[in-house]
Amino acid sequence: MSEFDIELLSVSKSFAGLSVVRDINLQVPAGEFVSILGPSGCGKTTTLNMIAGFSAPSQGDIRISGHSQVKVPPERRNLGLVFQNYALFPHMTVAENVGFGLRMRGAPRIEICAAVKSALRSVHLDGFDARYPAELSGGQQQRVALARAIAPKPSVLLLDEPLSNLDLKLREAMRVELKEIHKTLGMTFIHVTHDQEEAMAMSDRIIVMDAGAIAQQGTPGDIYRNPASRFVADFIGRSNILPVSAYSSSAAGVKLSIEGSPIVLRAPSGAADGGVISFCSIRPQSLTLVAPAALTDGTNWLEATIHRVIDLGDHAELEVVVEGGHRLVLHHPGSAMGARSYQPGQAVTMSVDPADVRPLSR
Ligand SMILES: Nc1ncnc2c1ncn2[C@@H]1O[C@H](COP(=O)(O)OP(=O)(O)OP(=O)(O)O)[C@@H](O)[C@H]1O
Ligand SMILES: [Mg+2]
Repeated sequence: MSEFDIELLSVSKSFAGLSVVRDINLQVPAGEFVSILGPSGCGKTTTLNMIAGFSAPSQGDIRISGHSQVKVPPERRNLGLVFQNYALFPHMTVAENVGFGLRMRGAPRIEICAAVKSALRSVHLDGFDARYPAELSGGQQQRVALARAIAPKPSVLLLDEPLSNLDLKLREAMRVELKEIHKTLGMTFIHVTHDQEEAMAMSDRIIVMDAGAIAQQGTPGDIYRNPASRFVADFIGRSNILPVSAYSSSAAGVKLSIEGSPIVLRAPSGAADGGVISFCSIRPQSLTLVAPAALTDGTNWLEATIHRVIDLGDHAELEVVVEGGHRLVLHHPGSAMGARSYQPGQAVTMSVDPADVRPLSR
């Protein structure tokens, strides 16, 4: 037995010579909730399909509890599957849908009944047994699909964009529910999404994919605070990315000269990967509008002109232009009334704590 429930070892996949998944190394310990997150077409579903056994890796190995799965057919991998289009059987009741997998395995009737009941309780659909899919809302149908996947008690649940067909409110409610179900059942969840908020809200760990390869993996907080690349900084949350033309390091940190601009920004240290600094990233909420009199030596301050103000109710989004023409987005918290006093064309001063400037090499 391996301590890891699922391992991907240098897994690659090509279709007709075109490389789609490249050298993925991944270890998912039993009981973890992992999200594979990345833009459309980056290879998430392809990776999940290889774990499920629907397609074989072109290279590399996939192990479950230490055993290579390459020759194991999907139905013998003890995995539960939930997809974007819940694909319930319309002519079967909820109970028949949920019991389908166990029936196919020839489980005794009494066992199926108990498993269906327990699965429906897990997804808060007790008493819905006799309904047909057409008599359920989208969120309820998705919960039936979830119950169907967990009823045979798989050790791992694979979820491919399970919430993307639901409206925003329902999606947010289901995030919480999925997380609860994960906690209650103690199964390993491997969840695929292109929605960073969803991944942040639910996962113990996020695997960020870019163009078939893993760009970064870590806890949601770690990835958000310490993005390893420009791609990750921009994909997880929002970031202002500024090009760096030159820099100098000292014990106090690093000073970054912004390309095409007299701006010099202090940051606490060099790029995390030790590479040549080419960019820096600043979160919109790390930029603060300040009165010039409030400036102190230790911080970064920038002169800017407001280009656009978008009132978003709980905060305002200001697009500003700094010296050299770079555009930055700033989130101004608090009442939108306060933000209304800012007008396009107005000159402002912004500060950003050096700790919030992140040097990046790529
Ligand atoms: N059977 C196939 N034959 C050829 N190309 C394929 C096949 N399946 C996927 N691809 C290609 O592989 C790439 C990755 O596809 P994949 O479905 O894994 O992306 P994804 O990350 O799941 O995207 P999305 O978020 O849109 O679902 C795409 O460019 C896709 O066109
Ligand atoms: Mg997909």
